[in-house]
Amino acid sequence: MRLIFMSGISEDGLLKLIYCCGVLEERVAEAYRHMAERAGDLILRAVLGYVADDSRKHADALRNMAAALGAGAPDPEECRRVAGELWAITMRGVERELAQTSRLSREDLASIIESLADLESAVMEEYLMMLQAEAMKMLLEDRPEANCLKKIIEWIAEDEKRHAQILEALKSR
Ligand SMILES: [Fe+2]
Repeated sequence: MRLIFMSGISEDGLLKLIYCCGVLEERVAEAYRHMAERAGDLILRAVLGYVADDSRKHADALRNMAAALGAGAPDPEECRRVAGELWAITMRGVERELAQTSRLSREDLASIIESLADLESAVMEEYLMMLQAEAMKMLLEDRPEANCLKKIIEWIAEDEKRHAQILEALKSR
């Protein structure tokens, strides 16, 4: 269903989606940072901090690139419309994490990691679909310099794959 929508997305819609994914990454970064602070184990803290920094880097890159290509800052309601279910699920998950104040227990960790790993692969899929969208080809045809944007989104998708791997490794410790 998502693929059908993606193939019909306009350039303007694509830029909005890129911007909204930046906002999403920003919130995800906050959740990872918060989780790192809740972790008692120093290694766990360092690993979660690494993923938080990575997500923050993605957030800045996506928003800056979308804005440079002419996207206005969409409000959350608009983002929910363009980014769909992924947006709503992620935002709820972030709120849940930010509401936690207790020390991160091993049991907590296992269940959180499971949902985060799902999220990371869903986000990765989102980027890969974005890259295949007809609107992306049009965007690049009009502005060859935007080819770097495509490269960067590819790299971000690769990072998401790495995040999923890191989380998987943490789970099986
Ligand atoms: Fe990620």
